[in-house]
Amino acid sequence: MKIVIAGGAGFLGQKLCRRLLDEAALTDAAGSCRPIARIVLFDQVAPAPALLADGRISHVVGDLADAATIARVLGDDTDSVFHLAAVVSAGAEADFDLGWHINLDGTRHLCEAVRTIGRPAKLVFASSLAAYGGQLPDPVTDETPATPETSYGAQKRAGELLVADYARKGFFDGRSMRLPTISVRPGKPNKAASGFASGIAREPLNGIDMACPVRPESCMALMSPRRVIDAFVRLHELPRDRLGWPPTLLLPGLRASMREMAEAVSRNAGNRKLGRIRFEVDPMIQRIVDGWPKETRSAKATALGFQGDASVDAIIKAYIADELGG
Ligand SMILES: NC(=O)c1ccc[n+]([C@@H]2O[C@H](COP(=O)([O-])OP(=O)(O)OC[C@H]3O[C@@H](n4cnc5c(N)ncnc54)[C@H](O)[C@@H]3O)[C@@H](O)[C@H]2O)c1
Repeated sequence: MKIVIAGGAGFLGQKLCRRLLDEAALTDAAGSCRPIARIVLFDQVAPAPALLADGRISHVVGDLADAATIARVLGDDTDSVFHLAAVVSAGAEADFDLGWHINLDGTRHLCEAVRTIGRPAKLVFASSLAAYGGQLPDPVTDETPATPETSYGAQKRAGELLVADYARKGFFDGRSMRLPTISVRPGKPNKAASGFASGIAREPLNGIDMACPVRPESCMALMSPRRVIDAFVRLHELPRDRLGWPPTLLLPGLRASMREMAEAVSRNAGNRKLGRIRFEVDPMIQRIVDGWPKETRSAKATALGFQGDASVDAIIKAYIADELGG
């Protein structure tokens, strides 16, 4: 199998790459389980050098909006593409033209390149709960209409529709999933508006003070990196007919208030000297967050074996184990 991860130098792209190396084999679009021979990380920036130590991994630095580069990266021997490249939420809101150019035009180029590979291939697309907007039920479920209220959300919804329509035409086996906010994100924050949902755990656990821009009782639908990487692999491996129509899945996001996050950090910190958390409400961010799903439940995802996180403590413990050495 030759696998391409678009956005492969990002937070989830690099984690997915490591997981695929452990996985060693995947099921191709014809239903055969084959060893992973090559993983190509395509991104506008280079991945961590350590990742390239494995001989199966290579990388190409390029722009998703450049159709010729995408076609060259995929060639005629790619079996599966994971599409994680995006201008993320606050970035797409701040720069309307860039957001549509990369998140829609770039996704279309990628779909076209997969279509022209010349043999059956799979495409797994990372969508987002930003696909929901307006007056939302609590929790959001499979029945909730996806009516985005941000440019990023509209671009993700458009990406889902593209992937579904190319799949319907039989151009490739396309699948999308709506990710909750992934927490805890290690390292530096990116331009996602939801960054504080990771910062509220990451900064204190690394001895840094943190100002949370929303009220302590504000709830968000969260999922740990471990669970979302499991979901990428599971969605790729799922027999096509089990996914049904549309080929878009809502992932289960755990309801977590920022107060619960702060308390779970204190409970699980061990001997670490914690940074302090202050709640300093930014009315603009509070308004945005109040409009997001607070919890997501999907009977379809559960029936297909997709799992959310058991508790807020489990999310914090996973970060400490995976990123802080236990
Ligand atoms: N992390 C989350 O909480 C979350 C939640 C919902 C959806 N998602 C989606 O999951 C995917 C991965 O998220 P992430 O947290 O790893 O984000 P990330 O920002 O760490 O990674 C995205 C990658 O896309 C790359 N990229 C951006 N524009 C590009 C371009 N023009 N050409 C090539 N590469 C480009 C970036 O360089 C980056 O490495 C994204 O599509 C994001 O929208 C993430």
